[in-house]
Amino acid sequence: MSADLYEAAKKAMALCHAPYSKFPVGAAIRAEDGKIYAGANIENLAFPEGWCAETTAISHMVMGGAKQIVEIAVIAEKLALCPPCGGCRQRIKEFASVNTRIYLCDEAGVKKTMTMNELLPHSFETGVIG
Ligand code: THU
Repeated sequence: MSADLYEAAKKAMALCHAPYSKFPVGAAIRAEDGKIYAGANIENLAFPEGWCAETTAISHMVMGGAKQIVEIAVIAEKLALCPPCGGCRQRIKEFASVNTRIYLCDEAGVKKTMTMNELLPHSFETGVIG
C-alpha cells in the first residue's frame, strides 16, 4: 500500500467524532479515478445513529463521482487490528471487485492485507440484480 493512502486514513481518523466510544477510526479509499476518499466514524448521542469510518469514506467516494474501490485502508489506534464491521463489509463489497485489497492498519503501518473475498466470504448475491 502506498504511503499516501495510509496517511489519508490516519489524517481522517484525527477528524473523527467519537466522544461516546472514544474509539477513533479512519478509512481511506483509492477509487478507480485514482483519487483518495477518506472518512472517520461519526457518532451520535442517540447511539444507533452513528456510523463507521468506512461508511463516511464510501459516501465521499460516491459523491466525488467514483464507484469502484481499488483499495481501502482502515486504521484504529486502540486495537491491533480493526477489521470492518459486518455492515461495512457489505457496503465495501457494493463497490469492490475480486481484486479489491483491504489494508488493516495501526499506528505503525499495515498489519494485514486481505482481499474482498477473504473479508466477506459467502456474501449476499441475488444472481439476478446486476
Ligand atoms: N467503527 C468504525 O468506524 N469502523 C469499523 O469497522 C468498526 C467500528 C466505529 C464505530 C464506533 O464509532 C466505534 O468504532 C466503536 O464501535
